[in-house]
Amino acid sequence: MTDINALIAALPKAELHLHLEGSLEPEQLMLFAERNNVDIPFKTLDEVKAAYNFNNLQDFLDIYYQGMSVLQTEADFHDLTDAYLQRCADDNVRHVEVFFDPQGHTDRGLPFSTPINGILSALDAAKDKYGITYKLIMCFLRHLSEDAAFETLAQAEPYMDRIHGVGLDSSEVGHPPSKFQNVFAAARTKGLKLVAHAGEEGPPEYVYEALDLLKIDRIDHGNRLLEDPALIARVKDAGLTLTVCPLSNLSLCVIDDLKDHPMKRMLDLGLRATMNSDDPAYFGGYVNQNYRETAAAVGLTADEIVTLAKNSFTGSFLSEAEQAVHLAEIDRVVSQT
Ligand code: ADE
Ligand code: ZN
Repeated sequence: MTDINALIAALPKAELHLHLEGSLEPEQLMLFAERNNVDIPFKTLDEVKAAYNFNNLQDFLDIYYQGMSVLQTEADFHDLTDAYLQRCADDNVRHVEVFFDPQGHTDRGLPFSTPINGILSALDAAKDKYGITYKLIMCFLRHLSEDAAFETLAQAEPYMDRIHGVGLDSSEVGHPPSKFQNVFAAARTKGLKLVAHAGEEGPPEYVYEALDLLKIDRIDHGNRLLEDPALIARVKDAGLTLTVCPLSNLSLCVIDDLKDHPMKRMLDLGLRATMNSDDPAYFGGYVNQNYRETAAAVGLTADEIVTLAKNSFTGSFLSEAEQAVHLAEIDRVVSQT
């Protein structure tokens, strides 16, 4: 019998749902706070870790935005991104499509250039350093206004050839996709890919809005679309990818127990689900940990693990020719196990 954990480790994978600011490990938080002289309400690592206990998305977001305050310089963003890429290399992740939240930084006084220059310098070095390619996705914070999102899109103009897509994140309930219809239309005319968190805590109607009004290319999370059979059929028929994040869902009480996670059901339904870590420093694990714990909890088979790894490339924004190279490598690994 195939050792599932050995298979998970051996397979090349892509990660399609990762907030760089959510990869800020407690140790880094303390380090950056000290080197930048930023006050944080924690004295020890244990105090930081004790605070990482959430009842819902908003609980987490309050801590997440507070944590960002220690990121002050291009070097901080570079080091944060490089540490994440090192974890990816350890997990055999070969391609990443990562989010960042510029408004989380510009709203506290940093220029737009600080986060993006630091992030891009680490991402650009990743091919040579780790053999990892990337796409960068700029998210709009949905608890802010559409005008604020337009301002962010304008600030991104000098970087337009380095940003591959826009996304929508932060507090979902009460901030439906319809609020951002115009700014997504503007991003589309610039040739950007479009993604949105939808159906994480929000109802199936938000997923419909993300499809019909934002015209997204990929759904982030999507758990609650499973409540609507017509929506399941639509997402399946359109071949849309879901960027699913099981350990995040558990930490944020989207599910009560990992055994209840719908990953296997999504695959059974023929949905193109992928495995991702979301905010790994806060939710207890990077990509392979999500694979291992979910596989053990819901009983994923070796074939399903291979399907998830393949979905991570076919659901990516890589060209078909680039995807084919990774898919062939997966077949090669499978043939040797
Ligand atoms: N920002 C960072 N992580 C997020 C999540 N899981 N949902 C919404 N916004 C986020
Ligand atoms: Zn997310």
